[in-house]
Amino acid sequence: MNRLAQVVRAARARWALSIGAAALSLLALPSMAAGTTAEPPALLDFSATERAQIVAHGPWPPQPRTDASNRAMGQAAAQAWGASLFFDTRLSANQQLSCASCHQPNRAFQDGLATAVGRTAGQRNTPGLLDVAQWRWLGWDGAHDSLWSASLTPLLSDGEMQQTVPGLAERVRRTPELAAGYREAFGQSPPADNTTLVVNLAKALAAYQATLASPRSAFDAFRDALASGNSARAARYPMAAQRGLRIFLGEGRCTVCHAGPLFSNGEFGDIGVPFFVPGGVDPGRYRGLQQLLASPYNRLGTFNDAGATDAGAVGTRHVILEPRHFGEFRVPSLRQLAHTAPFMHNGSLPSIEAVVQHYSQLNEDRLHADGERILRRLNLSDEQAADLAAFLRSLSE
Ligand code: HEC
Ligand code: HEC
Repeated sequence: MNRLAQVVRAARARWALSIGAAALSLLALPSMAAGTTAEPPALLDFSATERAQIVAHGPWPPQPRTDASNRAMGQAAAQAWGASLFFDTRLSANQQLSCASCHQPNRAFQDGLATAVGRTAGQRNTPGLLDVAQWRWLGWDGAHDSLWSASLTPLLSDGEMQQTVPGLAERVRRTPELAAGYREAFGQSPPADNTTLVVNLAKALAAYQATLASPRSAFDAFRDALASGNSARAARYPMAAQRGLRIFLGEGRCTVCHAGPLFSNGEFGDIGVPFFVPGGVDPGRYRGLQQLLASPYNRLGTFNDAGATDAGAVGTRHVILEPRHFGEFRVPSLRQLAHTAPFMHNGSLPSIEAVVQHYSQLNEDRLHADGERILRRLNLSDEQAADLAAFLRSLSE
């Protein structure tokens, strides 16, 4: 076997290994949704409205989202190179950090820390990367409008891999294995133009991450059973989760923001999580939008492979910076929560129970005056809080 073939094989093996390990570790964890209650199978009398709401949280897995701004998307060779890059510490300036240092495959691609190690700017929690291709805006603050631009920033950030565009381009050209990977992925040698080279590297990283998908959960089996009218099968969904689901759809009004198959409308909100950070405040979406609009790597720029025809660019063209964006953060997905504590943009809530208490005992004064009027203090009983937590756990496998 020649050297190039060996490199590619090793990259593929590592990729398969990481995905296999992630799947295994998720499987190995006890299913917390089942077995927490001894109640016999039964089905709550969900109304027609509730049933329609429940069905709207599926199906799962969703349609894969395409991204015309990235021509590497869906290309097997680019995915394989991206997979090996994701674990490659040579991408960082000091050669010690890879994407996987923080986005760890056996932790649903996050790190279990409140805020990421070494992050100086934002003091933010590392998000998991399962289903990451589903987002229209990326980052807690929506500072990116594509998966590839969100993959470029960590390479160049001070608090992360601390590269420069010329430094990283030079490293790819001078490291035979990386140069060979580039050729394999893009069908040509690394170009002389530094920025093109580094953007393409980020596009290969994105092509890989777009393959990361969360598995089906107990909720999905329940949802499909309801959709097909199979009451006997739907009744296998634990009663506590059914009661929690009813709170989620009803008095909790959770589904207003945590909508659709991903349990997020993909937009931004303020739910009263304090946004103080050492030495100031985290402006959230307000600064994210400023960064997005100033970035040469947004969809309106020259690195968008679809050019002016990109439908996704319309969204970026029409965003408007408004004061209400201050302190807003992206509505997170609720899938795989059982594996992604701690929660919120600053990792300030350690458990699912703590999140439920946050909403139950909501400090309404903390919400912006012009903020979310959807939310109000729920004052849940202990049983209701436990039911809501059981429902949230049933979204994980
Ligand atoms: C030091 C830890 C760390 C490293 C290393 C790191 N990340 Fe991240 N990553 C984070 C944090 C923290 C965020 C949240 C940033 C924010 O929203 O301000 C994030 C956000 C992201 C997002 C946005 C996810 C979403 O749901 O919107 C993507 C994509 C991503 N990282 C990919 C990468 C890639 C690719 C690499 C390697 C090139 C990488 N990250 C390296 C900590 C890290
Ligand atoms: C007004 C929109 C909105 C409503 C309504 C809402 N949420 Fe959220 N939710 C958010 C936002 C925004 C965040 C992230 C806030 C932050 O990080 O500062 C969040 C965070 C969360 C998280 C943490 C996820 C993570 O990965 O960190 C959970 C769990 C959650 N919400 C559950 C619920 C439940 C349960 C309800 C109903 C009781 C609810 N949400 C109602 C917008 C909303």
